[in-house]
Amino acid sequence: MMKTRVVLVTGAARGLGAAIARRFHDAGYCVAIGDIAFDAAQELARDLSPDGASAIPLALDVTQKADFESARDAMLAAWQHVDVLINNTGASKVVPVMDITAEQFDQVIQVNLRSVLFGCQVFGQYFADAGIGRIVNIASLAGQNGGSATGAHYAASKGGVITLTKVFARDLASRGVTVNAISPGPMDLPIVHESVPADKLNAVIQSIPVGRLGSADYIADAAIMLAAENAYFANGACWDINGGLFMR
Ligand SMILES: NC(=O)c1ccc[n+]([C@@H]2O[C@H](COP(=O)([O-])OP(=O)(O)OC[C@H]3O[C@@H](n4cnc5c(N)ncnc54)[C@H](O)[C@@H]3O)[C@@H](O)[C@H]2O)c1
Repeated sequence: MMKTRVVLVTGAARGLGAAIARRFHDAGYCVAIGDIAFDAAQELARDLSPDGASAIPLALDVTQKADFESARDAMLAAWQHVDVLINNTGASKVVPVMDITAEQFDQVIQVNLRSVLFGCQVFGQYFADAGIGRIVNIASLAGQNGGSATGAHYAASKGGVITLTKVFARDLASRGVTVNAISPGPMDLPIVHESVPADKLNAVIQSIPVGRLGSADYIADAAIMLAAENAYFANGACWDINGGLFMR
């Protein structure tokens, strides 16, 4: 009998993470919904799996390595194995570059980089010991082109996500573990509508060659492809999904 595949999605209580969690669940995965917003994570888990058999909420602060260790242990207790980690959590604050304070800088860097560092350390080690595993880090177009609306600290941290992806990909490759990034451009998600005023959003959309915001479900589908068992040859990559805003 084939074992059901198991994934942890971080920052999965809303936005892109919730779309990723849903899509993996639809694809037959058991899904752990890790988020600092536990109530919302619980709501989504109940919606996906009312009896908790195939979706569980986990209180997870991605800046804390111990929280990743607890998440791993809770998933092993529930499902006996883990196959995939999606490091999706990200924080952004729109602040002009000259005005960013030390606190604002540290907060964004901590969430966006500690999450990937500790997630890859804890699950990378577990996957390496198991001889197989898949990690997908959600970076951003901002990490490639410097960003526009999202803030310099955000853009810098996402550049770091792409670099950490390469470091862990190289380190873990011989142990059966792949590590890849996806860099989305602006998507049709709550955070975009909340943080960009409507008139500015129109200008953003007009600047996208395909003329539309991105779809979170499609990013999720790309993550599912990178998470597949037969995806062993995709490693250390960054898949650009940005409507043609940035070509290389
Ligand atoms: N929205 C976009 O257009 C866009 C574009 C490119 C990249 N991204 C990236 O996609 C990812 C998801 O973005 P989103 O738009 O869904 O964001 P969002 O702000 O809507 O959701 C982020 C989630 O992360 C959780 N979170 C915040 N801090 C946390 C912490 N310390 N520990 C655990 N969870 C925490 C929040 O509670 C929330 O559920 C991020 O990495 C973001 O940078 C988004």
